[in-house]
Amino acid sequence: MADNNAKLNVRGAAHDFDVLDGSIGPSVVNISSLYKDTDMFTYDPGFTSTASCESKITYIDGDEGTLLYRGYPIEQLADHGDFLESCYLLLYGELPTKVQKDDFVSRVTYHTMIHEQMNRFFSGFRRDAHPMAIMVGTVGALSAFYHDSTDIADPHQRMVASLRMIAKMPTIAAMAYKYHVGQPFVYPRNDLGYAANFLHMCFAVPCEEYKVNPVLARAMDRIFILHADHEQNASTSTVRLAGSSGANPFACIAAGIACLWGPAHGGANEAALNMLSEIGSVDNIPEYVERAKDKDDPFRLMGFGHRVYKNYDPRARIMQKTTHEVLGELGIKDDPLLDVAIELEKIALNDEYFIEKKLYPNIDFYSGITLRALGFPTTMFTVLFALARTVGWIAQWKEMVEDPSQRIGRPRQLYTGATKRDYTPIDQRR
Ligand code: SDX
Repeated sequence: MADNNAKLNVRGAAHDFDVLDGSIGPSVVNISSLYKDTDMFTYDPGFTSTASCESKITYIDGDEGTLLYRGYPIEQLADHGDFLESCYLLLYGELPTKVQKDDFVSRVTYHTMIHEQMNRFFSGFRRDAHPMAIMVGTVGALSAFYHDSTDIADPHQRMVASLRMIAKMPTIAAMAYKYHVGQPFVYPRNDLGYAANFLHMCFAVPCEEYKVNPVLARAMDRIFILHADHEQNASTSTVRLAGSSGANPFACIAAGIACLWGPAHGGANEAALNMLSEIGSVDNIPEYVERAKDKDDPFRLMGFGHRVYKNYDPRARIMQKTTHEVLGELGIKDDPLLDVAIELEKIALNDEYFIEKKLYPNIDFYSGITLRALGFPTTMFTVLFALARTVGWIAQWKEMVEDPSQRIGRPRQLYTGATKRDYTPIDQRR
């Protein structure tokens, strides 16, 4: 039986703490009484060694390169399931039966429209507004239209808000895209599947019938599955922290979208494609690899590296396979950016610097090539990430709200600023 006791000696005083074991993965030292016992805080900027919560939703083994949604490997869910099935699994913990799946799909389908007055929101943005700016603003505004699902203490309202978020994100994302390209909004259709409906809302125009390519719809659906959840990443931690104050779910998701936008996080897919375009050709790769290794050069290989994965991101493998499927279906024989990506990956994975620092391609490395081939501009890439990650944010938010032990998140600090001093009148300042 493992020893479940941790001893800490702080300036000569011994303190005991409990070690808590999970079902899989690293155990934790429960230090919640540390400040009371030692009058000290722990210090872990970036939370590299800190578990912020207990969760049953998603597990990542960074060394093995495995990702499980409620225990199911991402490879199996991506190969055999669909996005709404994964949504049900993430939200409720089990794969749905046929009856449960049909009911869930129907409930999502009948929440896809947004309040008609919200259309006016979009015309308030400049034509060249980044779609992520539109997403943050519009999702935050949902709480102004759906007051009947903002009481987080009511399980029914929590469920309605969850469904509304999953159902309405594709509609809002498609509207952000249509506004961006200056085309009329396309309403959702109840006879199309989730991913097909999204592609239809993005690419249909009033002038002619738009038939959704089933191969591309399947690829889009799989891309949504890959992005659905990922433990306590920066944007999910943002949603949890916002939710811990009792903020309504729409405001919490808007906070998550804002955090995801950063190029170190969900914005990396847009940055990775821009990087591949900047590199331009295979001949230029060595110069950029050297720059990525140069401490004095801020340039990094976007789509490479990960806080948790110190092995290949399993999602990147599936994304690479999907890239080839989409390019094949579209008859794109040679995509120069894909050639650069494949050669860059080969060079980087054989370079001592990347090997020593365990830097591998992550989900953002290939996703941009696929999304561009599907017809999306780079500015829409992170919007698609946010669309898919909404179910993960909502599932994690729901788990936190329903946890009886949860309290408002309020980290402390190591203060190194000025010690107490008296006010100096302005005529005495030098
Ligand atoms: C996502 O957390 C999640 O789960 C996120 C995500 C999700 O699904 O939610 O997986 C989605 O955000 C994927 C990551 C997308 N970001 C990028 O691709 C941007 C490029 N990568 C990095 O900036 C970086 O790798 C991070 C932000 C992803 C991880 O940063 P860490 O864990 O803080 O690691 P670090 O920055 O401390 O890097 C460790 C070392 C450093 O060198 P040293 O200071 O030790 O000498 O590796 C180097 C870094 O300089 N390094 C890189 C690099 N990434 C890290 N060097 C060159 N190119 C890179 N991409």
